[in-house]
Amino acid sequence: MQQSGRLPARSTATFWPCVRVIRRHGRIIPAAPVRQPPCLNVSTIHPTSYDVVSRRSSAKSAGPSLAERADSHRIYQLAVQSPEADIGLMQHFYRSRRRRKAWRLREDFCGTALTLAHWVDQGARYSGEGFDIDPDPLEWGRRHNIEPLGTGAERAILHLADAREPSTRSPDIRCAFNFSYWVFRRGDEMLDYFRQAHGDLADGGMLVIDVTGGTESLSEESYVSKSEGFEMVWQQENFSPVDHSAELTLRFRFRDGSEIDPPYRYNWRVWSIPELLELLSAAGFCDIDIWWQDDGAGEYGYRRTRKGENATCWVACLAAFK
Ligand SMILES: C[S@@+](CC[C@H](N)C(=O)[O-])C[C@H]1O[C@@H](n2cnc3c(N)ncnc32)[C@H](O)[C@@H]1O
Repeated sequence: MQQSGRLPARSTATFWPCVRVIRRHGRIIPAAPVRQPPCLNVSTIHPTSYDVVSRRSSAKSAGPSLAERADSHRIYQLAVQSPEADIGLMQHFYRSRRRRKAWRLREDFCGTALTLAHWVDQGARYSGEGFDIDPDPLEWGRRHNIEPLGTGAERAILHLADAREPSTRSPDIRCAFNFSYWVFRRGDEMLDYFRQAHGDLADGGMLVIDVTGGTESLSEESYVSKSEGFEMVWQQENFSPVDHSAELTLRFRFRDGSEIDPPYRYNWRVWSIPELLELLSAAGFCDIDIWWQDDGAGEYGYRRTRKGENATCWVACLAAFK
């Protein structure tokens, strides 16, 4: 539960399908060794940050299961989002080319707009917009992430709209995290999205997207990542070698064996870096940096590369500049 107008500080989070573990103060510690199966790392959620289920809950008590008492949006945020670390990363990518800070963010596929909320909460100069086509997470995010910011809430605009719709005001940074943009499964759809993003950005603006790959990203395996109070089961199925379409299911399971129902399901295409680079260039982006998640890459845990590393599971970010 949020106690005040401030957002609760996030302490740890996992990121799928390759787990990265983020410690207190948004500092990224080395990712799971790449030879290790992804999502086997255990992250610890500090219960003081959020109550995932009511404090009256008990696995032994009769009545509704833990899953029925849990808030699925809160659980999702805890399991796969790391807004403070993501904001640090985005500023690092932007600053490395523009030598200045970004002030205005657009969060595409924003869901509950957690990243946007943390962004505007940084101070009066920070503002932004979030876009999502699902009214349910958007409304939840308005109530639980944006409104508690008080006057800061006025600097965040939520749009119930497709990610290809224009912004009210051009952003310095536009982001699509957790591979959300993979919902665009055809090349022409992805190109359309990138073109719109390019046209919509402020001069010198940056689009940042994450991408994952390696042989494990094409497999049908499932992985479990444990958190205090629940575990997340990540399962990719029905991968097609012909068009790289796949179905991803995220299940959240509690210690009494109950699960959030329905699970989160996504139909997407597993995109590769060269495909994305070609489409970003065709959309008009001139400078595109590839940031590779790397154990030894200093404060942010990502290093700029043109080559990468042929690991069984890797995560990278593409920062494309207008
Ligand atoms: C994986 S969730 C991402 C939530 C959050 N931003 C994150 O990083 O975890 C994907 C979101 O994309 C939204 N979505 C799917 N297609 C969309 C589209 N064409 N335009 C905008 N949002 C879309 C879904 O409603 C869902 O909330």
